[in-house]
Amino acid sequence: MTVQLGDVAPDFTADTTEGTINFHSWKDGSWAVLFSHPKDFTPVCTTELGYTAKLRSEFAARNVKVIGLSCDSVEDHRAWSQDILDTQGISPNFPMIGDPDATVANLYGMIHPNANDTMTVRSVFVIGPDNLVKLMITYPASTGRNFDEVLRVVDSLQLTANHKVATPVNWQQGDDVIIVPALSNAEAAERFPGGWDEQKPYLRVVAQPTG
Ligand code: BEZ
Repeated sequence: MTVQLGDVAPDFTADTTEGTINFHSWKDGSWAVLFSHPKDFTPVCTTELGYTAKLRSEFAARNVKVIGLSCDSVEDHRAWSQDILDTQGISPNFPMIGDPDATVANLYGMIHPNANDTMTVRSVFVIGPDNLVKLMITYPASTGRNFDEVLRVVDSLQLTANHKVATPVNWQQGDDVIIVPALSNAEAAERFPGGWDEQKPYLRVVAQPTG
């Protein structure tokens, strides 16, 4: 099965380090970041999970629940958590799915057999309150992800879900944004009474809306 943007995120029930979880019930109308790592007791993954734990308050401020996964057992996740605490100064403070038979990994297409036929790649799925898949990122095992970038795209997704804007290259929270091309100038004038910088008819730059 291939998951694509706009699809309903496949539901599942799985054992995790925080007990059995039904994904949609656990999510319960929040945003969610579901991410896979290739293997427990590996170095890059150890740094990624520690850093993600340190971002707990940032995710909570955005109403995002975080959940990890690899094709290891819950027992291994628990044992490895101590190593993460020892080396990163914090242990995972979000559930980690034990998926030794790759049921959830296969639901989400997290195993790319030509890269490795048993380990998950580094997938990130951002799922909206409506349970639809909003963003997918795939990194290879050898490259640790940038979880600050995950927060940045959550900011963009949440902003663009509420306003008729898109975010330009390298956008950061508070930067100017772009009025979506689908909005006519007359409609834009109602939404953005302070005006905008029309660099081209299709490139209308405006201050980031609030609220
Ligand atoms: C790592 O997390 O360091 C890693 C995991 C699987 C393959 C290669 C590296």
